[in-house]
Amino acid sequence: MARVPKVELHVHLEGTLEPEHAFALGQRNGVALPYASAGQMRDAYRFSDLRSFLDVYYRACSVLATERDFFDLTWAYLERAASDGVRHVEPFFDPQTHLARGVSMKAVVGGISAALEEGRGSLGISSRLIMCFLRDEGAASAAEVLDVAIEVGRGRIAGVGLDSAEVGFPPGLFAEVFRRARTAGLHRVAHAGEEGPASYITDALDTLGAERIDHGVRCLDDPDLVRRLVRDRVCLTVCPKSNVSLRVVDRMEDHPLRRMLDAGLAVCVNSDDPAYFGGYVADNYRAVCSALDLDPDEVVTLARNAIEGSFAEEARKEELRRELAAVAS
Ligand code: ADE
Ligand code: ZN
Repeated sequence: MARVPKVELHVHLEGTLEPEHAFALGQRNGVALPYASAGQMRDAYRFSDLRSFLDVYYRACSVLATERDFFDLTWAYLERAASDGVRHVEPFFDPQTHLARGVSMKAVVGGISAALEEGRGSLGISSRLIMCFLRDEGAASAAEVLDVAIEVGRGRIAGVGLDSAEVGFPPGLFAEVFRRARTAGLHRVAHAGEEGPASYITDALDTLGAERIDHGVRCLDDPDLVRRLVRDRVCLTVCPKSNVSLRVVDRMEDHPLRRMLDAGLAVCVNSDDPAYFGGYVADNYRAVCSALDLDPDEVVTLARNAIEGSFAEEARKEELRRELAAVAS
């Protein structure tokens, strides 16, 4: 599976923080974690829903303090991704959780983007960085962080996204912030239809101008929406192991990816928060292949959907298509 050239469109950099690395950073910065060891931290990763995961995830973020920490976090992900055959990535980061602890946007974006640049040079992985707004922090906070990002992130942030607790925070609340992001030349994506209803997906398309939908698995509840997503080739960044870990589906064998593929939806496979959900992107491919009995052509379709759904320049997409064709033949 690592041989298939991959594009990863849904991975939260903070969600790639492995327990061992969290402990090392905690020691470096004098920040204590509520676990006796990295092993105990990993053992505590049993989630009942999205909220129960987010509480653990934000707590672990407290060890990230300096530009170097963000560089190291991103670099560790890139090295791991390279071994999985990732050739292009559009990672998310959550600035609000860091700004609230007094970390500057300059440190966060500086560290991440320096690692991404190095990844392009020495690992051959191209990238586009996406800044997510925490929907449970509300629109006023998102508007503030957008202003800072436009100033500090110019040329380094390619788009904005919407994540964190979904239910009760419909995309439409962020319409004005996304309108301003669009005016600033930023791409737009949004988590929708993970725990929330299919109507949040429609809302994200209509009110945010979302170009991709993150997760989107609940779209199958609305046949009109499925027709629209198929017609408009809207990419859905599905994260199978995340969905099992957060009880969006009971078992991998029940995952809707097979039905989504059969419906002609532009789905791709991603890791979401790999340090928490038991595997990186190639593990997610392997898991769906075995549980849903996907054939090699379907794997190529998944990989191709990610290339087409990416914000890579056309010339880079053409290179990625050629790399995929070389292993598909
Ligand atoms: N932040 C990190 N992972 C997330 C997920 N799966 N859904 C919403 N917000 C997140
Ligand atoms: Zn996510």
